[in-house]
Amino acid sequence: MEGAQGVSSGQAARSRANKSPASAAIELTVVSPTFNERPNIRPLTAKLHQALDGVAWEVIFVDDDSPDGTAVEVKALAGEDPRVRGIRRVGRRGLAGAVLEGAMASAAPYVVVIDADLQHDESILPQMLETIRAGDKDLVVATRYLDPEGLAQGLSITRQRGSRLATWLSRLVLKTEVSDPVSGFFMARREVWDRAAPQLSTEGFKVLFDIIASHAEPLRVAEIPYRFRDRLEGESKLDSRVVVDYLGLILNKATHDVIPARAILFGAVGATGIAVHLIALTLLSRLDTSLAFVPAQFLAALVAMTSNYFINNAVTYHDRRKRGWRLLTGYLAFCLACSAGLFVNVAVASFLHERLPITLLAGAIGAAFGAVWNYVTTALAVW
Ligand code: GDD
Ligand code: MN
Repeated sequence: MEGAQGVSSGQAARSRANKSPASAAIELTVVSPTFNERPNIRPLTAKLHQALDGVAWEVIFVDDDSPDGTAVEVKALAGEDPRVRGIRRVGRRGLAGAVLEGAMASAAPYVVVIDADLQHDESILPQMLETIRAGDKDLVVATRYLDPEGLAQGLSITRQRGSRLATWLSRLVLKTEVSDPVSGFFMARREVWDRAAPQLSTEGFKVLFDIIASHAEPLRVAEIPYRFRDRLEGESKLDSRVVVDYLGLILNKATHDVIPARAILFGAVGATGIAVHLIALTLLSRLDTSLAFVPAQFLAALVAMTSNYFINNAVTYHDRRKRGWRLLTGYLAFCLACSAGLFVNVAVASFLHERLPITLLAGAIGAAFGAVWNYVTTALAVW
């Protein structure tokens, strides 16, 4: 009797589990990166339920410890809805990294990324899923460009132009033809994610571009148009840093991964440093005609070094950016690391200047020697 009861309660549990939607093997994981999206979590989940009725799906919200408590909201909802999961990442920021982490937590055959802010039209999800189920595509991109009216909505004129420029630039390096390679709304087979994962950058917004670029052979892509909606709650996190980061990645891919994006950025900052140096040198020698060349060159290098430090901290090493007290100690370390470079700079410049007294030429060559030195030493010692 007892045994029979044991069996029947076991069966009951099993059949309960079978009815419970979350127990069916998940076919589609929806990854939604979030930063300050608390008011959008429940509405998005409700929309997903509606769009994906009849599909074994789950949503993973990947939150970078948003100050508005998005992660708390996600965990509360996860307690009520078995389709909802949440990852709270601490001490890290980055859309690409968050998306990647969500995708890596999935065991489903298909993974789709969607913004949490309701700007992406979830009603095309079934169409995307059908396309990828058919088996002859690796990637399905929801694109704003196939519907000209769609683009007009939700994006400012500047953003539209920027977006077109980003698309045009990406065509220079991608082997796969895609009309919206910076789309944040796309579905891919898990193998595609798994293969690309070790090479992907965890910074910035260019996840799709990066996935396509990291595949040596062209991917089989389908594109589905949709209308980009206005954001109702919260605000966009796309800023100038995201743009710089994207340009860095394009240059990196254009040089076939030989030059890392960071070195390209450091080089660009170095170039501004040379300009700052020459301006400072000109000003100093004009302001004080009695100032000898060597102290003028020394002071100009100091000005350039300071500007390089702050620009590199804000741009090149944005992800490891120093703030507050560390900004100061970092600056001191940067100065120390560069002092040898400064010595090389001044030595080379004064050596040249004694033999050939052309101020700007000697100054430029000295500064260039110093820049290379600085790159190597600060990369190792400061950030
Ligand atoms: N976890 C995490 N960490 N999520 C982030 C971060 C971050 O650092 N930054 C942004 N997000 C989340 C937002 O909360 C939102 O759900 C989604 O990523 C998109 O961010 P938005 O800030 O709303 O981007 P957007 O609307 O300006 O940009 C859209 O268009 C771009 C192309 O023009 C997005 O779809 C981008 O993915 C797309 O590249
Ligand atoms: Mn948005």
